[in-house]
Amino acid sequence: MSKYVITGGNRLNGEVNIQGAKNSALPILAAALLINGTTVLHNCPNLSDTRAALEILKALGCSCVQNENDIYINSSSLSCSKIPADLMLKMRSSVVFLGAILSRCSVATITAPGGCELGPRPIDLHLKAIKELGFSVCDTGEIITCKRESPIKNVEISLDFPSVGATENVILASCVSGGRVSLCNAAKEPEIVDLANFINKAGGRVQGAGTDQIEIIGVKRLYSVEHTVIPDRIVAATFMSAAAVTGGEIFLKNVCPNHLIAVMAAFREMGCNIKWTENSLLIKAESPLKRIKTLRSTVYSGFPTDAGPLLVASLIKAQGTSVFIENIFENRFNYIGELRRLSADIKVFGKVAVIEGVKTLNGANLSCTDLRGGAAAVIAALGANGQSKIDNIFHIERGYEALPETLGNLSAIIKKE
Ligand code: UD1
Repeated sequence: MSKYVITGGNRLNGEVNIQGAKNSALPILAAALLINGTTVLHNCPNLSDTRAALEILKALGCSCVQNENDIYINSSSLSCSKIPADLMLKMRSSVVFLGAILSRCSVATITAPGGCELGPRPIDLHLKAIKELGFSVCDTGEIITCKRESPIKNVEISLDFPSVGATENVILASCVSGGRVSLCNAAKEPEIVDLANFINKAGGRVQGAGTDQIEIIGVKRLYSVEHTVIPDRIVAATFMSAAAVTGGEIFLKNVCPNHLIAVMAAFREMGCNIKWTENSLLIKAESPLKRIKTLRSTVYSGFPTDAGPLLVASLIKAQGTSVFIENIFENRFNYIGELRRLSADIKVFGKVAVIEGVKTLNGANLSCTDLRGGAAAVIAALGANGQSKIDNIFHIERGYEALPETLGNLSAIIKKE
């Protein structure tokens, strides 16, 4: 099994180009099902998750061509409305295909996503909204089949929680319909805005994305479209954290600092110096880092849950006691046991992690518990003295393109073995 071997202690310096956002690319790949003609996507990250999304499109009968970060999709030959169970298991966020398949075929069958590394992965909010759109839902616990029972007319939906995936599913299920849907308490994440921009470029009418009130005016059809995926704000936060923990200086290119306001505030509180333009960001870390008294994850535009492990991985070397409160996923602290192997001092009380900064971390053998937990292990190992080995790196490869090469270009000593 592959692993990363890291010799920590080097200060990271240099420039890095931030990849396209995985969490934008996935719903946009689902939206390609709705296009009458071809979809051309640029800046699509080449990851195991995006490759799994392409496999789903192919299993549904679409033709897909990938040329590095450019993807060409033609969905005119769509022949199936069922996502095979093995593909559902490969990528749990495949539930976002549900709305798009329903829009296109009026019927869709998927297997329930079950649990994942971050805890149970309920889709009750997705299914409730889909019912409100006029579809029947038959959920056997293993297989979920949804069918159109009545056309979408004027529907008002209010989500109990601003779920990112449920917001995407409502948009996808209703943007090609004869109706008008008002979605209240919608998720406001930048990836929702990117999806709406993609649909609108193709002739759709999705208004208010980026606010908690989205209005979807169904159109008859969507036309061929070319789109560039936005930069990945969590990957940007990863390199910011790598600069922080090593006392380095990194210039991030192809980034959207506007999406990183809460993340930049956290690094500033740690004593990092940050300068930014519309599409670049320079972070310069001071050693030692300062503690963050209390940091809470919340929905956008607050501090993102996905960046929590990345911040904790640098706070373990900050001076003093920091507190991180995880408010979105109930099982997000599995990676903390791995950071402790490096002599990090972290205690967990339910959704609260208390981090006592230590002066030195010592290399150790670690395992990736999940995608961002794995990235946190890499960052912490970069800040530790001596050698660390990190296994189960398939988690990291779900979300990071060529991570060892990119870190190597910044003077990190890391190789894949
Ligand atoms: C997306 C992101 C993920 C990010 C998360 C929160 C993708 C592919 N993934 O995940 O990286 O961490 O947003 O920003 O875009 N919930 C329910 N019932 C539902 C749906 C969600 O209880 O039907 C709960 C979840 O268990 C979780 C919370 O709501 O506790 C947030 O989930 P949601 O916003 O839906 O996240 P995802 O779309 O799954």
